[in-house]
Amino acid sequence: VVLGVDLGTSAVKVSAVDREGKIVAQQSEAYSLNQPEPGYSEQNPEDWVTGTTAAIDRLIKVDGIKPDEITGISYSGQMHGLVLLDDHNQVLRPAILWNDTRTTEQCKEILDTMGQDFIDITRNVPLEGFTLPKLLWVKENEPELFNNVSVFLLPKDYLRYRMTGKIAMEYSDAAGTVMLDEENKTWSTKIADAFDLSQTIFPPLIESIGFAGTIGDTYAKFSGLKTTTKIYGGAADNAAGAIGAGILSSNQVLSSIGTSGVVLKYEDNADVDYKGALHFFNHAIPNKFYTMGVTLAAGYSLSWFKKTFSADQDFTEFVNAAGDSTVGANGLLFTPYIVGERTPYPDGDARGSFIGIDGTHNKADFTRAVLEGIVFSFKDIMRIFAEKGSNFDTVVSIGGGAKSPLWLQIQADVFNKKVVTLKNEQGPGLGAAMIAAVGVGWFDSLSDCAQKFVSYDQEYVPGSGNVEKYEKMYQLYKQVYGQTAEISH
Ligand code: XUL
Repeated sequence: VVLGVDLGTSAVKVSAVDREGKIVAQQSEAYSLNQPEPGYSEQNPEDWVTGTTAAIDRLIKVDGIKPDEITGISYSGQMHGLVLLDDHNQVLRPAILWNDTRTTEQCKEILDTMGQDFIDITRNVPLEGFTLPKLLWVKENEPELFNNVSVFLLPKDYLRYRMTGKIAMEYSDAAGTVMLDEENKTWSTKIADAFDLSQTIFPPLIESIGFAGTIGDTYAKFSGLKTTTKIYGGAADNAAGAIGAGILSSNQVLSSIGTSGVVLKYEDNADVDYKGALHFFNHAIPNKFYTMGVTLAAGYSLSWFKKTFSADQDFTEFVNAAGDSTVGANGLLFTPYIVGERTPYPDGDARGSFIGIDGTHNKADFTRAVLEGIVFSFKDIMRIFAEKGSNFDTVVSIGGGAKSPLWLQIQADVFNKKVVTLKNEQGPGLGAAMIAAVGVGWFDSLSDCAQKFVSYDQEYVPGSGNVEKYEKMYQLYKQVYGQTAEISH
């Protein structure tokens, strides 16, 4: 078997996967998220190591996975988190995570210092979540500690270091530091110079499917794993999730409805310049990229609505009841900016709305408007692909949106694209295992591996008539943010 280690924000999940792509065993371990101040979000890197080790220990002892059967291991990691090590590779402070928002000032400073140059090199605008602003925050606020920094890492790269004893960072995650020249796959000396960062703190770079070492002696003793097990780079969770959903050609777009929502597109090369309107990162497939946009309150909008107005109802019943309404929710429109928005409006203060309320509207109309509004916000992201001439014909739906036939049909109709679901959807952990499966040589490429490991299930096609109705509603939807932004500020 190979192991895919999915190092998330609330827990680590380790999956043992066989050559057929079957998950033969899975164990997870939760850890805490610390908020010492409002807006701060930190974790103790040691918890990632002990959590992973505990999960692996149960795979061995409870599920009977034999250590010498574990051929390879790879990772999916929560992105952007800053881990700082001293010259003995000891952790200097708690990791500052992707959802920590203390760095607004540093983001401004980055743009003031470098302007468009920064976006041209990194292909992204600096956001609070990304790593460089965190590094600058530590430099400015904890200068003595910063002087002792020997190298910085990201969460799963730190975990890999502890398992192999070797320091490295992998490209898809390095892209999320916004210090990488993504197209040339090198650390940007321009950025390092602009912010007076020593070249020595930048770790060596490896490919996602690149060999990173074997299990080190220390970790072997600690975990019971064998020193013959081979370790591979791994990927950022969004890249690994895309691999696990088979997003391996530019024809495919991922539509993922979790608490927040992600629309992600595979890019064959770095030619399309989104000018920072979308995140643009290196993919886990060497020399390929992906672009993504985020709806901050996707599933969260629906769970907020249900909790507030239908707390006692069974969830599936509640969603299915929206089927009693009509396409376009009898003219009721919802915008899901209830905790602010990221794409296409990078505005944390934006707020949502119901528009067009009529005395005849009932709860089914409201629920349907929420389902539709979330999908309109995804279409708003897809519109940016289309504007740049970046076309696609299939949408792979995962998460909450893939669990409801009604919501899947709404997606097909609003996107005016074929929408498919996955058989046995597994998330980024499967992507991590696929990276290991390619690393150990079971397959020549991630695409070959996907032929075996990823298969599609249901298919939804746009219904004529519905497409036109939704297009009309979408034209109204697009106007709402601009017309209402002022009242929420
Ligand atoms: C992406 C991002 C999140 C984290 C979650 O930019 O911040 O999706 O990767 O782990």
